[in-house]
Amino acid sequence: MEKLRKAVNEMAYTQHHAKLSHLQLSLIPVLFLASSLYKAALSLRRALYHSGFLRQHRLPVPVISVGNLTWGGNGKTPMVEFIANYLADSGISPLILTRGYAGGDEAKMLHRHFLGRPVKIGVGAKRAAVAASFFERYGYVEPSSSKLCHGQKVGSHLSSEKIGTVILDDGMQHWSLQRNLEIVMINGLTLWGNCHLIPRGPLREPLSALRQADVVVLHHADLVSEQNLEDTDLMLREVNKSVPVFFTKMDPCYFFDVGNATSRKHVGDLSNTIVLCVTAIGSANSFAKGIEKQIGAFYVDRLEFSDHHKFLAKDIEIIKRRLRELEDRFSSKPAVIVTEKDYDRDPYIFKHLDPFEVLALCSELKIIPNRGCTEESFKKLLKEVCT
Ligand SMILES: *[C@@H]1O[C@H](CO)[C@@H](O)[C@H](O)[C@H]1NC(C)=O
Ligand SMILES: *[C@@H]1O[C@H](CO)[C@@H](O)[C@H](O)[C@H]1NC(C)=O
Ligand SMILES: *[C@@H]1O[C@H](CO)[C@@H](O)[C@H](O)[C@H]1NC(C)=O
Repeated sequence: MEKLRKAVNEMAYTQHHAKLSHLQLSLIPVLFLASSLYKAALSLRRALYHSGFLRQHRLPVPVISVGNLTWGGNGKTPMVEFIANYLADSGISPLILTRGYAGGDEAKMLHRHFLGRPVKIGVGAKRAAVAASFFERYGYVEPSSSKLCHGQKVGSHLSSEKIGTVILDDGMQHWSLQRNLEIVMINGLTLWGNCHLIPRGPLREPLSALRQADVVVLHHADLVSEQNLEDTDLMLREVNKSVPVFFTKMDPCYFFDVGNATSRKHVGDLSNTIVLCVTAIGSANSFAKGIEKQIGAFYVDRLEFSDHHKFLAKDIEIIKRRLRELEDRFSSKPAVIVTEKDYDRDPYIFKHLDPFEVLALCSELKIIPNRGCTEESFKKLLKEVCT
């Protein structure tokens, strides 16, 4: 199963058939059919919403949707956090609505990051119902009475209880909720792969769905060459000339030891060391690239598992074997770096890698100025929607 999943994933990001294996080539007809069915289902669903046959819920507060067109690694969750932090700093208490996956790894991370902050996190596939229960419990701010003062913090404890804005995580596929701002995240490293819909390709919606976007964000822009950035910018302009395109990147903040989530280690502490990145996320490549570029490690090796993979004892053995190989090769003890998501999926499993040090990396999203699209102008957009 793991092999099949890997084969399909590789195909999604390969443009030329010559590079595909026999297994992959034999899968094309099946995947093609599945992609066509998926496309038909999407058009039908959209038509039903469009015609009013399926009803869109309107929430009593502004809704900001952060969506994606492709599989993993597009910075959706970090963007949700960025927005939630800005709103909370501005005295508006946001409610994040997230679907939550099997292990709920994303939700756990959000809970840890927002500990003690006026940010609520609602988990569940039925977003409208989850939102309703939070509104009932905490109340909500009438849009006209919410105050978002530029650069001024007005977060009093009383007003912070009431929900002022809803942030929809992974909203593109949820037409059932009306939104005031549609942000679409794109992984700058993988873009649209082979331009097919899932499962043949990485697209969850046809590219034309970008037309619904109010804001397009090109994530991992720091890891993409100038030329590719310009090409992508041009491609986006073809879909919509006037849509603002923001560039973002992940900035590493600190590490914590998986044995103690409150411990802190500086990012620079790993410079000139040997590290092994162990990941089971959608964008292992951008993670490892980021480590290479930003940590200043002497040598970076990687072990990648499929997205949302649950680590088992046999995986620990594989990781240990690789670590010993590295240790022999460089005569120095390597450290393991994992993503927070992987840590949250199972906080205890990595302890079995003892005596090797295992560190989880915490990063945050930063906006890189791109012509007129800066952090300031992005916040201005949010402010306009939320007041
Ligand atoms: C993109 O969207 C789909 C479905 O909405 C989701 O399953 C997938 O995990 C998303 N990508 C990321 C990074 O979460
Ligand atoms: C293009 O984007 C702008 C800004 O988000 C939006 O106002 C406009 O409606 C979009 N145009 C089309 C044709 O989608
Ligand atoms: C975890 O780390 C924190 C911060 O360094 C420290 O104060 C605390 O004692 C540690 N806890 C354990 C159980 O080691």
